[in-house]
Amino acid sequence: MQDPQGSAAATGRLHISPLGESDIEPLAQGLWHEEVYHHIGGLPEARSEVSDWLRHTLAGPPSQEPPQRWLNYVMRRAPGEAPVGLLQATLHGGVAEVAYLLLPSEWGQGLAGEGLRWLHEVLARVAPEAHCWATTVPANERSWRLLERCGYVRAAPPEAPALMSYEEGDWVFRRALPPQGPGAAGC
Ligand SMILES: CC(C)(COP(=O)(O)OP(=O)(O)OC[C@H]1O[C@@H](n2cnc3c(N)ncnc32)[C@H](O)[C@@H]1OP(=O)(O)O)[C@@H](O)C(=O)NCCC(=O)NCCS
Repeated sequence: MQDPQGSAAATGRLHISPLGESDIEPLAQGLWHEEVYHHIGGLPEARSEVSDWLRHTLAGPPSQEPPQRWLNYVMRRAPGEAPVGLLQATLHGGVAEVAYLLLPSEWGQGLAGEGLRWLHEVLARVAPEAHCWATTVPANERSWRLLERCGYVRAAPPEAPALMSYEEGDWVFRRALPPQGPGAAGC
């Protein structure tokens, strides 16, 4: 089967590539920041916890039923520069759960939206039947504003399959994937 992660790509302002081992330490260094973890569980005590989590993410899902696919991409301003963020999609049972983390120094410029739009195009190719879902705590306004700007709408959590990222009290968002092929517009 073709590697669903694909190869590196460029958007208007971002260079995006599949997460690799060599990305882990520079990415952990950038992401280990109070503001990044404020709404997602709190800052880990040590940077090494972020590295460990990224390694676990890179290793992919344990073999299990039903099967899952984990897609992980690192965002940079230019090839070879320090990472500015991470895009993720967890595919299972017709669901693509998306997530995004950006260095605080990069917030407020539309980069997460640019990355998420690109991720939708990837998902439309590798899992065209899937719907995108995302969860966020209501206090994470930057996250839900990003989702709404990118065409997501509030929804009840699906009964099956259950969302892996869902926790009681989360807001849940859903979006169809863009049609395949050139000319797909919007986030
Ligand atoms: C969630 C997160 C990725 C959002 O980042 P962000 O920078 O606010 O989101 P965007 O990249 O879409 O930027 C949008 C903002 O940039 C502004 N902007 C500037 N130039 C822009 C452009 N060319 N295009 C779009 N927006 C632009 C917009 O006005 C918008 O601001 P607004 O929301 O006040 O209207 C970021 O806050 C983050 O990493 N948080 C920590 C991790 C986290 O909680 N992740 C979510 C759970 S997985």
